[in-house]
Amino acid sequence: MPTSPPAGIILAAGKGTRMKSDLPKGLHRVGGLPMVEHIARAMRAAGVDRVIVVIGHGGELLQQALGEGYEYVWQHEQKGTGHAALMAREALQGHDGAVIVAPGDAPLLDAATFSELLRVYEEEGAACVLATALLKDPTGYGRIVRDGEGRPTRIVEQKDASPSEVAIDEICTSVYAFRGPSLFEVLPGLSTDNAQGEQYLTDTVAALAERGETVAARVFDDPGLLVGVNDRWQLALAESDMRIRILRRHALEGVTLLDPATITIGPDVTIGRDTVIEPSTVLLGSTIVGAGCRLGPNTRIEDSQIGDGSVVLMSHVSEAVLGRNVRCGPFANLRPKSILGDGVKVGDFVEVKNATLGEGASVSHLTYIGDARIGARTNVGAGTITCNYDGFQKHQTEIGADVFVGSNSTLVAPVKIGDGAMTAAGSVVNADVPADALAVGRARQEVKEGWAASWRRRKSGGKT
Ligand code: UD1
Ligand code: MG
Repeated sequence: MPTSPPAGIILAAGKGTRMKSDLPKGLHRVGGLPMVEHIARAMRAAGVDRVIVVIGHGGELLQQALGEGYEYVWQHEQKGTGHAALMAREALQGHDGAVIVAPGDAPLLDAATFSELLRVYEEEGAACVLATALLKDPTGYGRIVRDGEGRPTRIVEQKDASPSEVAIDEICTSVYAFRGPSLFEVLPGLSTDNAQGEQYLTDTVAALAERGETVAARVFDDPGLLVGVNDRWQLALAESDMRIRILRRHALEGVTLLDPATITIGPDVTIGRDTVIEPSTVLLGSTIVGAGCRLGPNTRIEDSQIGDGSVVLMSHVSEAVLGRNVRCGPFANLRPKSILGDGVKVGDFVEVKNATLGEGASVSHLTYIGDARIGARTNVGAGTITCNYDGFQKHQTEIGADVFVGSNSTLVAPVKIGDGAMTAAGSVVNADVPADALAVGRARQEVKEGWAASWRRRKSGGKT
């Protein structure tokens, strides 16, 4: 009979006292995502079928943040990591495959680490594989005690360790691959006879070894990926570590980063090759950047798509879609649902919101385009405003293709301007303009010959 696919348990019920926070520890963000979500995603990516999150402190908040893709079990009283894992027993009844266990506070854990543990688990036919690391300063971590043949026999917490055990530099990372049935057989028998009066998950190692089951350890040589966050300083270090790892990944994939110390890229952002990211640029959320783009300096782009060859200079872009070879900025503000076709130009001090700009359209200076549709190749002159809001409702402005909107036009929505039409500079346009027509909506200019000179004469008592 085939065994069940691997399942995962994330221990996230603890209070995280050392964080000194009202938020549960797993909800503190690293790289823009809650720590516990990084771990849940990494498990999924390693082929873990069911991910069970043990929740307690701030459990509802954790459940809300992670959403419906995962299973939740409650640990109402925090009686230790072993007790926490036991809470998943019922959910995993009948599960006879591997169970990965990880803490909710190690945000850099990745799919490769979980896959490697599963590989060793299969290879060794083990009841438990420990993920361990060698640390120069192992203070605070559980230490791995091995027998004469090098097999792990137990883990001892720092608070319970003898001086010779404290000297051990191989630590427990709290990441394990267990054989499901073995884990749930030994968990209920764990004692609380230790410095913290808790049931330690670490004690499963001695329990399994005593039963003659195989316990293996895989020493990972990049401990940064595995170590947990217990306080705000470790949180800050994890943030900067993740930032560097993400930047490095993009750099090695062919992205040029000018002054990486000032660049932040979220974990889910993708960037095409030969794109250049200039200083003080932040790319966040689900942003997808094409190849050969130039972004920054001083630019923030969130949940947006940037087509190949586009330039975004000193601008804010949020939930917008830019085609290929778009020019944006300096100082443009592209707000949600701005959709810019290929070759569009949006220049300085231009704000766009919920608007579609056709291929090659140009809105170069000092303009607000909101709730609008603009056709291909249309030129919108400096200082144009779509008056989309009447104080109660938003209204649409429809501008066709090849339109010339004169500078300082005020387009009072709802209003339509047909293909090929023009509006005279300074016009207030509050009625539809047919295709190829000219709309003039301003007072006719009067010229009074000599008036200025005679006014100056009057004012100066005839001296000029
Ligand atoms: C634990 C390990 C230690 C290891 C370290 C690695 C034990 C006894 N010790 O210590 O050997 O070196 O992790 O980071 O396991 N949790 C619950 N319910 C509880 C207690 C904890 O869900 O009753 C959760 C916490 O929310 C946390 C995780 O388990 O995500 C680990 O708990 P934590 O208190 O951080 O354990 P450490 O002291 O770091
Ligand atoms: Mg911890």
